Amino acid sequence: MQARQRSYSHSESDTADDAIYAELDPAVFRKRLMSWYRQHARELPWRGITDPYRTWVSEVMLQQTRVAAVVEHYHAFLRRFPTILALALATEDDVLAAWSGLGYYRRARMLHKAAKFITEERGGVLPSTAAELRTLPGIGEYTCAAIASIAFGEGVPVLDGNVERVLLRLLGRPEEGTMISRTFLQRQAAALVPRRRVDHKSNAAGDHNQAMMELGATICLPRAPLCLNCPVFSMCKTRGEHVTLLRATQRSRPAAHLLSLRKRGTATQVLLERRADDVALMPGMYELPPLPLDAVENREPMLRVRHSITNTNYYVQVFAPRGSTDRALRRAIPAAKADLHWVRTNRLHSLPLTGLARKILQRLDVMETRPVTLPEPLSDTPAAPTRKKPRASAVKV
Ligand code: ADE
Repeated sequence: MQARQRSYSHSESDTADDAIYAELDPAVFRKRLMSWYRQHARELPWRGITDPYRTWVSEVMLQQTRVAAVVEHYHAFLRRFPTILALALATEDDVLAAWSGLGYYRRARMLHKAAKFITEERGGVLPSTAAELRTLPGIGEYTCAAIASIAFGEGVPVLDGNVERVLLRLLGRPEEGTMISRTFLQRQAAALVPRRRVDHKSNAAGDHNQAMMELGATICLPRAPLCLNCPVFSMCKTRGEHVTLLRATQRSRPAAHLLSLRKRGTATQVLLERRADDVALMPGMYELPPLPLDAVENREPMLRVRHSITNTNYYVQVFAPRGSTDRALRRAIPAAKADLHWVRTNRLHSLPLTGLARKILQRLDVMETRPVTLPEPLSDTPAAPTRKKPRASAVKV
């Protein structure tokens, strides 16, 4: 076959299929991949569902987030907002509260914004093609392709970091991180996706895309890939780790936060700081008041927590006043008084807490009551009435 003897570089104007067809037979690849996926796919709550809204929520949650963290939040989020309309009608604080702990809060804001747009401009119906989905605010290329293929069976490729790695290794190419390389990979992924649209029972494109992601997430791992368990090992040009760009190195940063509690009648209150609306990171969210490091020199923390955000590991120390007369720490808080709030601990669940604040408060058992957990509503019955939500009102200091 002539194509097999050619070598490909990204600057050549190959047709989409040339490179991948030169290396493997897509029909054989798909068959092996799907046979493996049927046997080995993890059972995850967003697999085998038919509600496109749920697929959308799961795919947005899964971006840059561990599956275990998504599993923890997925059901609770959908119980709170079972439909696009319920999400559209919620306040942003409610949406952020349900997202607390998943990180990258812009995703939650954009999901909320798109739900409002769909409700107001599109009769509450999520579009069913990737091209139409792309017109919605904040829904990027990845999310469009994921929803269109998984929920509606459109033959479009999904290219996330895992799929990129699978394709690079399959084709024996180094990671380049350029737009040209990305376009090239997009075309290879497109050449592999089955084009058939779904009948009622099967969804070849959606299953294929999920299988590619699953292969990257469970077998074709960034480090120490499990090649001997790989269904397409014999078709792979790399069979192991490929050449990658240097990653931004991890940074370590110390940080200190104050844990201040007080009793008011039978209630316990905790002092929280609301982050300003104009900061780039987690605007409007609530955290334990940060303390300057020099204010806590020579003090013993009550708790040490490591918290990673992108490529920074925060080594966080939590300090509590030494008895009711110790006001030094409170005075050391740089925040303006207007940003500080005493919040009852049984209301913490309905506040948009930062992931770190939630982690600390949970570890110290300060988040005392769990929100009411309702059974999953059936999709064709009205959602069960929810408990009247306490307002996240807080007493100003
Ligand atoms: N990563 C993001 N979405 C996924 C999916 N649907 N299946 C497997 N991995 C994923």
